[in-house]
Amino acid sequence: MAKNPCVLVLNGPNLNMLGAREPEIYGTETLAEIETRCRKRAAALGLDIDFRQSNGEAELVGWIQQAGKTASGIVLNAGALTHTSIAILDALQAAGMPIVEVHLSNIFRREEFRHKSYVSQAASGLVCGFGGLGYGLAIEAIAGLIDEQGSGH
Ligand code: DQA
Repeated sequence: MAKNPCVLVLNGPNLNMLGAREPEIYGTETLAEIETRCRKRAAALGLDIDFRQSNGEAELVGWIQQAGKTASGIVLNAGALTHTSIAILDALQAAGMPIVEVHLSNIFRREEFRHKSYVSQAASGLVCGFGGLGYGLAIEAIAGLIDEQGSGH
């Protein structure tokens, strides 16, 4: 039987603090609970998940560079690096696979500096403002994009 396509779900700085971090903005769900949510949704869609978090820009860039070896798509919440990191944008543009951007909060309802996303330049689309629910929607979206591409790692 063919192996399920794998989705790399990457989480950037401070997302390890979910649950305790500004719950009025980010909700009370922990990153581990979000991972479970992603795995359930992915299993129902016939996808495998590689779920990771790093506080470091360099580590995230390294993971994106390596994505082509194992993954068919990337779901990315780059945290604050969304708004600053050309290095992550460059890595995403070279990745050659579908990318879906996700944020727990609605970044367009917040401070002006959060309205700019470098990640969006490389992503097919963006899900934001739905808390942890958005990760499930992002998995749904990447499944559709991978399916359209007919790719399969
Ligand atoms: C975030 C939004 C970013 O602006 C912020 O820096 C984060 C989390 C979100 O998921 O809403 O760390 O990416």
